[in-house]
Amino acid sequence: MFDPKVIRKDFPILSRKVKGKRLIYFDNAATSQKPIQVIEAVANYYKYYNSNVHRAVHTLSQEASQKYEDAHEVVARFIGADSYREIVFVKNATEGTNLVAYSLGLHEFSEGDEVIVTLMDHHSNIVPWHIISKVKGIKIYTVGIDEEGKIDLDDLASKLSSRTKIVCVPHVSNVLGTINDVKTIAKMAHEVGAYILVDGAQSVPHMPVNVKSLDVDFLVFSGHKMLGPMGIGVLYGKEEVLEDMEPFLGGGDMISSVSARLEGGFSVKYNDLPWKFEAGTPNVAGAVGLMEAIKYLDNLGMDNVHAYERDLVKYTLELMEELEGVEIYGPMNPNSRSGVVAFNIVGLGGHETASLLDDYGIMVRSGHHCAQPLHEYYNISNSARASYYIYNLKEEIDIFIEALRDILVISSEL
Ligand SMILES: Cc1ncc(COP(=O)(O)O)c(C=O)c1O
Repeated sequence: MFDPKVIRKDFPILSRKVKGKRLIYFDNAATSQKPIQVIEAVANYYKYYNSNVHRAVHTLSQEASQKYEDAHEVVARFIGADSYREIVFVKNATEGTNLVAYSLGLHEFSEGDEVIVTLMDHHSNIVPWHIISKVKGIKIYTVGIDEEGKIDLDDLASKLSSRTKIVCVPHVSNVLGTINDVKTIAKMAHEVGAYILVDGAQSVPHMPVNVKSLDVDFLVFSGHKMLGPMGIGVLYGKEEVLEDMEPFLGGGDMISSVSARLEGGFSVKYNDLPWKFEAGTPNVAGAVGLMEAIKYLDNLGMDNVHAYERDLVKYTLELMEELEGVEIYGPMNPNSRSGVVAFNIVGLGGHETASLLDDYGIMVRSGHHCAQPLHEYYNISNSARASYYIYNLKEEIDIFIEALRDILVISSEL
């Protein structure tokens, strides 16, 4: 049963007040709040079985290692991967993208090779390639967006070539909320022999995502945006692709043996997947928390999560459209977007709008949302953004719209 009023009871933070008002948290695209089940799972790890993993035979280490490995299995099932070997735990989506850029780009791409990103990518899917391109002489091409605010597939087709090595796209735009046709993009990339890397930071928390049916080579996402703790994220990679890739970081646990050679240097054998990509002591508490978060979302059903957020966005767009002086970015058709609405009040900057909303206890993000190229496209330097999750209510949206009405009056008097 999907009942947001029942769901809210699991989130202690939602009962706090801000500036004397009941907290309205509309900044879920930046990070979600955490249910008590996740908070307790993390606390219980530290209270009862805190230990390093994969390093000792004692009971605590065995228990912690088991949970850490279970978490890989749970993530694999959640996104439809074939096996836990395809699930690499990283810090966040950003580290996942960097891992691919360094392990694949630095080692396997050469001068004149091409990488494709899009105008709506988050900086985390652009800047790692920019860094690698300077070292390797790789060319980066940027694909534009169509009238519906989605990746322009004609433009993509015109930029793909036999030199394209990887196509990097966001599944869902963190500004427009638009859902891109990743399955078609994957097919187009594979036709020219390129990999596809999908940034799932705004899709995996909000809708069913299946890596096999989309046929993507890489998918990255962050635990903290999907009810989990900060500091844990996921890189999914097809097993055969990860198998052939060089490690990103070197250190403990990512090797199966290291021995010094008499003639100098070392002989190093890397560990099996996914551990080859998980150097050093990992974030066990984060993994345990993420596993609990996935259990929570699974119980709700990702189809229900998606449908509910779409309903909230539909409601918002209907009410916002009636407000004169509010500019909304992205398509007005709620079926084309997930639970994100970026907007500006004419004459006010995004930060001013967000700080006025804060006086009503309403938390929205403002700025360029790490998507400056997209803001440039719209000829704006920043925007305010309301983004929803499973515990938000239409009543909260009513309060938000009333606050915007007040702010419109204030801005007209400036
Ligand atoms: C679309 C998208 N990609 C990547 C990221 C980066 O996430 P993180 O900061 O958790 O690495 C974000 C975060 O806002 C995002 O919205």
